[in-house]
Amino acid sequence: MEVKRLEYELPERLEDFDPFDFIEKATDFIRKNVKAKEKIAVSASGGVDSTTVLKLLSMQLNEEAIYPFFIDDGFRRIIRGEEEAEVVKKYLSKYSNFKVIDAKEKFFSTLKGLSNGEIKRKVFRDVYAQVSNEEISKIKADWIADGTIAPDIIETEGRVKTQHNVELPYKFKKLEILASLYKPHVRKVAKALELPDEIVYRIPCPGPAQLIRVVGEVNKEKLEIAKIATDIVEQKIEDYCKKIWGKEFKYNEKTGERIPFQMFGVALDNKMKKLSYFKGLNKMLNRTTYLEEGIKRPPEPLTMPVIWFETTTKLTPSLFKISKDIWEDVGYPRVLYQVSGELRKDLPYLAAIRIVGSKDATRAKPMKVEFEYLQKIGDEIRKKNPLVAAVAYDISTKPPATIEFE
Ligand code: XMP
Repeated sequence: MEVKRLEYELPERLEDFDPFDFIEKATDFIRKNVKAKEKIAVSASGGVDSTTVLKLLSMQLNEEAIYPFFIDDGFRRIIRGEEEAEVVKKYLSKYSNFKVIDAKEKFFSTLKGLSNGEIKRKVFRDVYAQVSNEEISKIKADWIADGTIAPDIIETEGRVKTQHNVELPYKFKKLEILASLYKPHVRKVAKALELPDEIVYRIPCPGPAQLIRVVGEVNKEKLEIAKIATDIVEQKIEDYCKKIWGKEFKYNEKTGERIPFQMFGVALDNKMKKLSYFKGLNKMLNRTTYLEEGIKRPPEPLTMPVIWFETTTKLTPSLFKISKDIWEDVGYPRVLYQVSGELRKDLPYLAAIRIVGSKDATRAKPMKVEFEYLQKIGDEIRKKNPLVAAVAYDISTKPPATIEFE
């Protein structure tokens, strides 16, 4: 596959990045590559990256040449009770060739039963490419463009994890306009292009969406839990931020930090092998005791070792620090702190809440939310998902943990 990437040199500081200079280079790049009469398909998610790409293309090309499509893979989010495909339709139906492709069955039947995170990603990517290739062939497009940004390429090429949009077996020429940018730069470009704020500051959603929030084996029940939990977390945290800050999120224009940067719910198996339970937290306050009390280094190779604290001790700001100690002392990157329910074995699932602040997803910190509020969120997740025994808050930082669980 031929990939044309716009190589753009970024200044060291975000504040020195000139979005108008980028827009000029980007439109030049489009003009030089996409010839008159050529058609370009655009894989659109409704997020800030692909919507910025669409806007840049429409500044340079005729609308009839642009074919945006949204693949409804069945792993998308529910946003305030509405399926993501419906929400995206509202933003993108102004493009006359815009289309939603319903591929829910195809994705689910291929992914059902798979457990390994990296295999799930690769299979997702292959189905994504197959569905996209079929669509692009129908359109008879010459090009495919999407919202691939620098971290996607770095993580895939560094073999950290396979992003669904990089090294896709497309049968068409691919245009990567944003390949040199990070999220805060894209937000600046989107703002300069006068996209609405709800797009500019949109919470990023990974391509495989809830698939990587269903830890372990994929099934319908866990997918439902992850979707419902994500919707609850998003609504409740937006309300919480409005209450404490008077707005849905905090954004630092100078550094690009958004709090929260991402927030979601995760479904886990109650009998997950990679989970170590630990009762009581008081001992944790003394670093040496928990080593004696039984937390052992995880045996290799474990992709996602997790410690789950079952405790009645209230999570306080100082306890957010324990994940760092645990990593240094016993090598568990992910620490989950129970906020609701109990670890009863008669229910098959657990859920986790992840809310992080970050600039560009390369580093992230868990957001400090009052324990009682997290408890309320956890209670609601259990109420809506009666198969969930307990809910925990993820207090891990990136690094060493990642934002997503898989
Ligand atoms: P991690 O979990 O590596 O995530 O800390 C970093 C950022 O990348 C997003 N992410 C993905 N995006 N395909 C995507 O398009 C993927 O497979 C994927 N995995 C993680 C994640 O949501 C976060 O913003």
